[in-house]
Amino acid sequence: MSEQDARTLEQKFADLQRENEQLKSQLMQSQKMSSVGALAASITHEFNNILTTTINYAKMGLRHTDEATREKAFTKILNAGQRAAKITTGMLSYARNHNEQKEATDLVQLVEEVLVLVEKDLQIHRVNLETRFEGRPFANVNANQVQQVLLNLIVNGRQAMEGGGRMVIGVLANREANTAEISVRDSGTGIPAEQLQKIFQPFYTTKKADARGQGGTGLGLSMCREVIEAHQGRIRVESQVGEGTTFTLRFPLFVGQGDSPANLRMHHLAS
Ligand SMILES: Nc1ncnc2c1ncn2[C@@H]1O[C@H](COP(=O)(O)OP(=O)(O)O)[C@@H](O)[C@H]1O
Ligand SMILES: [Mg+2]
Repeated sequence: MSEQDARTLEQKFADLQRENEQLKSQLMQSQKMSSVGALAASITHEFNNILTTTINYAKMGLRHTDEATREKAFTKILNAGQRAAKITTGMLSYARNHNEQKEATDLVQLVEEVLVLVEKDLQIHRVNLETRFEGRPFANVNANQVQQVLLNLIVNGRQAMEGGGRMVIGVLANREANTAEISVRDSGTGIPAEQLQKIFQPFYTTKKADARGQGGTGLGLSMCREVIEAHQGRIRVESQVGEGTTFTLRFPLFVGQGDSPANLRMHHLAS
């Protein structure tokens, strides 16, 4: 092969690599949008409720001129508006954030922010949600990416519980192993043993596309694994057909952190 050919090949290879990177990031973005898409119906429903509340209390405030009633009306309207703002802020930051940085993050808070987005969706699908927070672990993560992982796991869990069920979301600090864990458990169909090794493969899905585009892309879990591995973390699955499934994310515990928020504040002051 001539030097010229070698250079052309090298050039081609570099181009393909760049193209590959671009496609990957586009895929990530569309995966992100498809998980938000899965929530669209229930978020619309929630906004309708908020508007109904706002309109009714505005009418009440207009009808009654006494101070107490007006104050109540304004308070209700304010609360409704703030709830709406919380949801849209959550969605916008989720969809827009491309930042790759990691920082010491309160995992309980990270989970709670995702719950704002999914609560209504779970309720509409008759899923009982329980949270179990033990301790207040921090981990060095990119909050937006980990929230995307969580959203994927929650939507998967909900989709495995047709007709409703129970979801338990846990956060705990394992001080012996020096890890922080987030777990998502559902009481859904479970995953047969022979499928377990395939579920993390890109494009592996058992979901058929339906009219609302709610079918599977098969990219959710492969994206989850990629994100978690980029955090030196682990993702584990345990499943029992007919009983349900638990996904556990495990991250190195943020170093230099004591148990209490007070210790954490001291850490920040010292650094
Ligand atoms: N919580 C769960 N319960 C049962 N099956 C699951 C669960 N999570 C994932 N799966 C299985 O793994 C497959 C791949 O999941 P994922 O990568 O998120 O793709 P998708 O959700 O688009 O199908 C799903 O199609 C489903 O068969
Ligand atoms: Mg999925």
